[in-house]
Amino acid sequence: MNGFQSARGLQAKAKNATLSPARHARAPFFFTLTDPEITMPRPAVNVAVRAARAAGNIIQRYMNRVDSLTVEEKSRMDFVTEVDRLAEAEIVKELRRAFPDHAILGEESGQIGKSSKVWVVDPLDGTHNYLRGFPHFSVSIGFVDHGDPVHGVIYDPLRDELFTASKGDGAFLNDRRMRVTKREGLSGALLGTGFPYRQREHLDAQLGMTRALLQEAEDIRRTGSAALDLAYVAAGRLDGYFEIGLKPWDMTAGCVIVREAGGHYCDFAGRDGIPASGNLIAGNHLLTGAMVRAIAASAGPALLAG
Ligand code: IPD
Ligand code: CA
Ligand code: CA
Repeated sequence: MNGFQSARGLQAKAKNATLSPARHARAPFFFTLTDPEITMPRPAVNVAVRAARAAGNIIQRYMNRVDSLTVEEKSRMDFVTEVDRLAEAEIVKELRRAFPDHAILGEESGQIGKSSKVWVVDPLDGTHNYLRGFPHFSVSIGFVDHGDPVHGVIYDPLRDELFTASKGDGAFLNDRRMRVTKREGLSGALLGTGFPYRQREHLDAQLGMTRALLQEAEDIRRTGSAALDLAYVAAGRLDGYFEIGLKPWDMTAGCVIVREAGGHYCDFAGRDGIPASGNLIAGNHLLTGAMVRAIAASAGPALLAG
């Protein structure tokens, strides 16, 4: 399924749809046409959705004033603004109110509390885009229980697109169920990636892998929001995705969403799971396999080590 196909599918399904509460309605009495098979979201997802929307409001409120924001360089090429911090504070407030015993790992606050249940938060994924008025960024909130990635919420405030998933429940874009594409190999594949601008020692490997993949694939996008790249894989807008050195907050929610959309994620050597190295490949099972094979010769031992 791709984005356009899902829109056509929705029109066709509308004939058979029943009136039911929207999965993540802004107001409690808002009703919409939804697919009858859709399950109701888990309460924890509702809390994360509320938090993500609140962060999205802050991000939008400051959007036309980015020139007056104070920009701090946390480390080389790693920028933070008061918008990142305000958005994260809002998310932490919502999560702590609902789940005072859970821990939070926030990009800006670090670890808050200690628990085997951890919310993993990127309040603004795509800060470089945001600062330049490049309209592509998101809020990402994942939930891990005893190391098991369970819930994922990614919110694109500009398009009002909400990507959600819970273990065993499938993945949704607003009210529509998402599936990864069925592409069987790299031929014709549209891939996403991120360039290692903070780890330039990997530039040659990135360019080598990009060359190897482009020999076979249709094209490669670099959008500037890893979380949205993963959400787009789940939505079938991208067939696959790879990036070097992601952090837990860049990828936890997205990995849950990809998996629940029928997809797969692994490290550059094809090992399953969210890689501690942050060297991530995502897509359907066949495509991640094809990507692993294609990059094998150019990734180099350091990136393949996991
Ligand atoms: C970054 C974005 C970017 C990706 C980087 C991330 P940030 O997150 O997701 O697309 O290439 O690896 O660090 O810093 O904007 O939250
Ligand atoms: Ca990020
Ligand atoms: Ca961020």
